[in-house]
Amino acid sequence: MKDAAPQVIRLADYAPPAWLVDEVSLIFRLDPAATRVQSRISFRANPAAPGHHDLWLDGENLKLLSARINGEARSVTPGPEGLRIPATELPEGQFLWEAEVEIAPEGNTALEGLYMSRGMYCTQCEAEGFRKITFYPDRPDVMATFRVRIESELPVLLSNGNPTAQGAGWAEWHDPWPKPAYLFALVAGDLVAQSNRFTTVSGTEVALNIWVRPGDENKCAYAMDALIRSMRWDEEVYGREYDLDVFNIVAVDDFNMGAMENKGLNIFNSRYVLASPETATDQDYENIERIIAHEYFHNWTGNRITCRDWFQLCLKEGLTVYRDQQFTGDMRSHAVKRIEDVLTLRARQFREDNGPLAHNVRPETYVEINNFYTATVYEKGAELIGMLRRLVGDDAYRAALRLYFERHDGQACTIEDWIRVFEDTTHRDLSQFKRWYSQAGTPRVMVEDSWADGTYVLRLHQSVPATPGQPLKEPLVIPVAVGLLGQDGRELQPTVVLELSEPVQEFRFEGLPQRPVPSILRGFSAPVILQRDQTSAERAVLLAHDTDPFNRWEAGRSLARDVLLAMIARDEAPSTAFLEGLGSLLRDPALDPAFIALALRLPSEDDLAQALHEAGEVPDPARIHDMRRKLTHLRAEHLAEDLHRIHDAMASTGAYDPAADQAGRRALRNAALAGLTHLDQGARASRQFATADNMTEQLGALSALLEIGAGADELAAFYDQWRGDRLVLDKWFGLQVMFAAPDAAAETAAGLAAHPDFDWKNPNRFRAVIGGLSANAAGFHHASGAGYRFVADWLIRLDPLNPQTAARMSTAFETWQRYDPGRQALIRAELERMRSAPTLSRDLGEMVGRMLG
Ligand code: ARG
Ligand code: ZN
Repeated sequence: MKDAAPQVIRLADYAPPAWLVDEVSLIFRLDPAATRVQSRISFRANPAAPGHHDLWLDGENLKLLSARINGEARSVTPGPEGLRIPATELPEGQFLWEAEVEIAPEGNTALEGLYMSRGMYCTQCEAEGFRKITFYPDRPDVMATFRVRIESELPVLLSNGNPTAQGAGWAEWHDPWPKPAYLFALVAGDLVAQSNRFTTVSGTEVALNIWVRPGDENKCAYAMDALIRSMRWDEEVYGREYDLDVFNIVAVDDFNMGAMENKGLNIFNSRYVLASPETATDQDYENIERIIAHEYFHNWTGNRITCRDWFQLCLKEGLTVYRDQQFTGDMRSHAVKRIEDVLTLRARQFREDNGPLAHNVRPETYVEINNFYTATVYEKGAELIGMLRRLVGDDAYRAALRLYFERHDGQACTIEDWIRVFEDTTHRDLSQFKRWYSQAGTPRVMVEDSWADGTYVLRLHQSVPATPGQPLKEPLVIPVAVGLLGQDGRELQPTVVLELSEPVQEFRFEGLPQRPVPSILRGFSAPVILQRDQTSAERAVLLAHDTDPFNRWEAGRSLARDVLLAMIARDEAPSTAFLEGLGSLLRDPALDPAFIALALRLPSEDDLAQALHEAGEVPDPARIHDMRRKLTHLRAEHLAEDLHRIHDAMASTGAYDPAADQAGRRALRNAALAGLTHLDQGARASRQFATADNMTEQLGALSALLEIGAGADELAAFYDQWRGDRLVLDKWFGLQVMFAAPDAAAETAAGLAAHPDFDWKNPNRFRAVIGGLSANAAGFHHASGAGYRFVADWLIRLDPLNPQTAARMSTAFETWQRYDPGRQALIRAELERMRSAPTLSRDLGEMVGRMLG
């Protein structure tokens, strides 16, 4: 495995498939140790690849029992990655391939292909899992209709498309929509459904089912509600209607990612389906709504129109994330959603884009495609859609999308196709915009301004730092939304979108009565880092008056960041003006509680490390941790009265409702509690814990207690109460590690990894403990190196069983070049230790190799 040089796949090498598939028919005889898969695949020469070609079929870990071409037995010997039939042995034009293979789902710990999760069969084929099920041209530009027969004694047997027939011990399915193999799915298990119906806008009845284990059926109501709202929304906003008689969702406990959009049969990590007020937090509910919508929206952006090759992943993911963000905004609050999205973008994507793993939104090479399901492809990919829309306007965006669906339905497309629909709609040349897809790194936009004789001039400079393999960058088109306020907070200039396309450009605003306070990058109109020296007076104006809620929040955020940076650098006490500014937010009855809660959230320790690195300094994780705690404490002292009042006033009235209004009140209540807990040794938090009737308040109280090093009794009570609920127990594991004191974090994690309930082969549980430690910045980066060692030990252990999750979690180390030589040496040693593991996978091997550079 590790001796063979890893093969690099290149976008530039793309060639159309030699053989296309019209129809696939599969028979599964399920058995944990020896499942038989029979395939009948009709191949046809691709007119776009003239000539008579070899047939290449991908296939991994398959025991080939028999193969026939046009009914004639063939003896073929597959290699480790598949099999080749030379053109000389193939009929010309078209032929039928039939094969039978044997696979062992129970031994499949990688959770890719057909595997078992607690007695139930399920599949995960994106990106390249189908080749672990049978021999097939496993590439997204080969699209075919599928017929599937499943034979098993299990009561529920599901596949893609519509059910066509069933009997005792078998079921048959037909998917009439041509699809790539990565959208194939099969589920078999002892499952129960929560069911409903949906009538599409043109009057077709669709049966909706959410399949779960017996006992969980009362935890599906919210997911079902979110599904119905998603279906309606896509009809109303994008004119997209569902296209099968049934839509099935299945919740599985062992799943590497969040969920998967298999045609007509979405498979979900159970944490993104199951919810009840007692067991799920408001955040969980919001995630369920978002991911149900995301996977549903893929039915058009991903399934009906798919990707030509995996380099085009952002074509479906960026667009579908953008769509789910719009949906959540419509369901909840656009202002709050935008702030949340930018927080995630900065925490994950900026972090990635400013380190050794930086890559293009459309990468040009990869070793293992699973390593590119990243914040850059997804979240930055979504930002590119938002920018495009800002540049062309809402009407042109709508028209371009209509053209996209019309022109490309049933096709496997590229970013070039996507850009072209916008060019054809607007007659605008978007070649410069397209650089966003092929240039990695977070652009910096530096702002200078001047004022004379009623004219205000903004001078914007853009630059993109070098990233691995891309030393030089070209200027981008950056939509910079700007408004101008008077010193008294009145809006002098409503939002205009400036198009920054040169390295340096000036924008003039004339006829102004006074020097304005600029509100730049409203709504976070582009995924850039804004560099500007802003006076605290200007920030105070924006914080109090900006009509753009994002920039209003941003003013407070940057104030808090600078206060923290000054504490870290010089022990400088937080200014009273800063604390008073927060106080007035807390007392503003017009503000949405969810917004106030976000305004109270301090930059995370990792955000601060990122900011220090950005400023050319070396972050000290221990000091960051201490100063952030200190500010939490000082702030709570200063605002104690307000926090008390809020904690009381935001108490729940009436039945629990996961919708935005109540969720915002609970978020603010928990934020107040977290502060107060620093002052009262946890008295209030213990009371909230004891009386909470929902997980949001129970967990808010427990977190507040753990943060101050208290809560031992509550932790034990929580375990006793929830030991039978896997998803809640994940929270119990995760919280302890995330809130452990820096000195004790690695030890706490090690203790939990020895707990009888620690099931390291379950990705959710593994992430709770090992991911929990990497989320505890000061603990993970402890100068002893114990945190690094613990995480590396576990990645080395997990990698041979589940390379995908091991590789994904290795990003804990992606920031290593920020730190001091001592920490860098410790991390380098761990990265090298992982690299030399005898069982190193292609997945983890690629990640570690890129991080080491
Ligand atoms: N397409 C899925 C989604 O965005 C992600 C599945 C990716 N899975 C993987 N193993 N790479 O919802
Ligand atoms: Zn997706």
